Amino acid sequence: MKNIYLNIFKANLLNLKKAKKYIKSNNIIGLPTETVYGLAGNAYSNTSVKKIYSLKKRPNFNPLIVHYHDLKSLNNDVILNKNFIKMYKTLCPGPITFILKKKYRSKISKLVSAGKNTLAVRFPKHAVARKLLKMLDAPLAAPSANISSKLSPTSAEDVVDEFKNKIKLVLDGGRCKIGLESTIIDLTKTPSILRQGSITKKKICQILKTKIKNSRHSKVTRAPGQLKLHYSPGIPIFMNKQKPKANEAFITFGKKYKSGKNRFNLSKNNNLNEAANNLYRIMRKIKKRKYKSIIVSEIPKTGVGLAINDRLKKASYK
Ligand code: TXA
Ligand code: MG
Repeated sequence: MKNIYLNIFKANLLNLKKAKKYIKSNNIIGLPTETVYGLAGNAYSNTSVKKIYSLKKRPNFNPLIVHYHDLKSLNNDVILNKNFIKMYKTLCPGPITFILKKKYRSKISKLVSAGKNTLAVRFPKHAVARKLLKMLDAPLAAPSANISSKLSPTSAEDVVDEFKNKIKLVLDGGRCKIGLESTIIDLTKTPSILRQGSITKKKICQILKTKIKNSRHSKVTRAPGQLKLHYSPGIPIFMNKQKPKANEAFITFGKKYKSGKNRFNLSKNNNLNEAANNLYRIMRKIKKRKYKSIIVSEIPKTGVGLAINDRLKKASYK
């Protein structure tokens, strides 16, 4: 049988060194993080950043997140503030992205922030991402490793599924622990959440000891007619439904749902973290099995359930 995964590499020292070489020569790699896999390149290099936008077919007005190992190198690129320091101390490394004001002298490629004077920064927790970041002398620009508007990848195989052999090296870090993209918080003014995730608003309120808003749309996604559909498996999704039609997959949550051929339970244990972890994997599976549409049962709107509902809503935009 033909091995279709020739570009997936075990994340041992030899292959981490290979990845470092790729990044240094402005090539793009698939990188595991605890949230989802990223499409990573040298954040200082215009060549690398252009390659990321082009591979992803991402509109050039939608900025990228820059990944760091620790605070040391960050100081050259953004203006730190008190709220950031508080959150960094409790949550990092971890599944959260901060929007901060960019410094004029920052070496980050201007293309990363798509003309904005802010920068999205994140400190991933995954051991492989951390090891590689430590070996490099530049931070990594890395959006989720999927074609723009499609499902984020939660395994090395998913990355190859998206890009085939257009990426020559994907570091295998196993299945992502969280499976949903990081929470994004704008700290350039009164803190507001731009994207929900496994770190909830409640948790952040406790840390900052202040009220924070949920911004319904980030400015970059407000561009007319653009980016309304996100996280999409490419078939219609209908939420809060109970009766699947023929050729329709049924995504359920909780023990009250029976199993069946077209039924996919996000968590039989009523566990929202498990559900978040299964969401993209199950939607990919449904797509591969050629179902024509998906209905989803109600999913509790608490904890990470809020982020799951948010992703499903964006995936079902019509
Ligand atoms: O978990 C994650 O965050 C993953 C892993 C790979 O780190 N990355 C990820 O990146 O989800 P991406 O590019 O798929 O989503 C980043 C989001 C985009 O919606 C983008 O609009 C927003 O972050 N963003 C980036 N820079 C921004 C900025 N300066 N201001 C506002 N939003 C920004
Ligand atoms: Mg994405």
